[in-house]
Parts: sequence; structure tokens; C-alpha cells
Amino acid sequence: MLVTGQPMGKPYRPKDHYFRKAKQAGLRARSAFKIEEIARRFALVKRGDRVLDLGAAPGGFLQVLSEMVGPEGLAIGVDLAPIQPLGKRQVRTAVLDVLAADFLGQLSKLHPGELDAVVSDLAPKTTGIRSTDEARSLELARRALTVARAKGRPGSSFVAKLFMGGDFEDFREEVRGAFEEVKVVRPRATRGGSFEVYVVGRGLRRR
Ligand SMILES: C[S@@+](CC[C@H](N)C(=O)[O-])C[C@H]1O[C@@H](n2cnc3c(N)ncnc32)[C@H](O)[C@@H]1O
Repeated sequence: MLVTGQPMGKPYRPKDHYFRKAKQAGLRARSAFKIEEIARRFALVKRGDRVLDLGAAPGGFLQVLSEMVGPEGLAIGVDLAPIQPLGKRQVRTAVLDVLAADFLGQLSKLHPGELDAVVSDLAPKTTGIRSTDEARSLELARRALTVARAKGRPGSSFVAKLFMGGDFEDFREEVRGAFEEVKVVRPRATRGGSFEVYVVGRGLRRR
């Protein structure tokens, strides 16, 4: 079934291939396949790593990332919405607003040290007005970049989703200024008609 009239011109297919695959694999969100593809393709996460997942509810990315870092690593997930426990000792979650003024302070309480990767699947509540949705998506992606610069160790990685549009090129340049290598990816699990892409940064430059 194809339901039309969705925000951002995004067709919504309630039970597509990745939805069913996620259900079979016990994954909380079909988006889990996106981070799996990106992380593997760019070798972003290894065992023992400390990773931060921004906009982590309901926890699909976090399921994949926590497996990749293993019990000796750390996968921190934050979101406006609570994340139901994953039952793994390497996972830490908190209800936090990434746009709040004291966000970095709150994050430091969860993990005072540096991070090996900052991943953002942050997405605004869409309004259906494309320019507004793009601007909000960009604001969240920029916030993720600020967090990655502040908390990433030199050489660390970054992944951020954003809606393709207006100031996308400016954002890509900002990521290029902070990281040695920058790629733009549209994972296979992205819904047809979606405007979202992921910007991947590798090798955070020294501050
Ligand atoms: C596409 S969903 C994330 C799905 C998740 N990656 C997964 O695999 O389960 C986007 C998330 O961004 C969160 N979000 C949006 N604005 C936020 C903010 N200001 N602070 C924290 N989380 C935010 C939403 O609550 C939503 O859960």
C-alpha cells in the first residue's frame, strides 16, 4: 500500500521489505539497516569504541552500534523521547534535548571522556513546509557537528542525517572544515522519495 500526502513529498509504505526484515531480526526500527550499512562501508566503529547516538529513540541505531562496540565499549543514546532499556551493560541512555543550552554539560555527566564516533539520526517533527523542515533538519545536524567537535577525539568519526536542500552545501563545507574526509551517503534502506542523506566525516582534525 502506498499512502500519499506525507510531509516532504515522502511516500509512506507501512510494511516494506526493510520493515519486515527489521521485525524478523528483532530490531526496533528499520533505520537500523542504515547505520549498519554506513558504519560497515566506512569502518567507522570497532569493538571497544565509545559512540554517541543523537536522536536515538526508539533504539534501532543503538542496537546495531552496541553490538559493534561490544561489552567492552560504550554506546550512549540520547533523545527527547525515552529509550526502552536494551539490557546491555555497554548501553547508556538519557532523555535530553540536544538543542538545550546545557546539553554538553549534561552529556559530560553521562560520559566525561572523549568519543570515537558521534552519530546523528536527529529529525525534526515535519511540518510539510519544505523550507521549514530543511531549516530545522539543518539546525539539528549543525548541533550534532558542534557536539562531535567538542567531544570527539582527534581522528574520530561523524555521521549526520539531514534533508537535502537549501544550505546543504554549506553544511558539507562545515564538515569538511572539521574532518579530513567527507562523504555523502544515501543508504539502501532509505525510503524511496525521501530527501534525507547522511553526511559522513572521518578523521576529526585537532582542535
Ligand atoms: C528518525 S528518529 C531516530 C530513529 C533512531 N535512529 C532509531 O534507529 O531508532 C529521530 C529522532 O530525533 C529525535 N529528536 C528530534 N529533535 C530532538 C532534540 N532536539 N533532542 C533530542 N532528540 C531529538 C526525535 O525524538 C526522534 O526520536
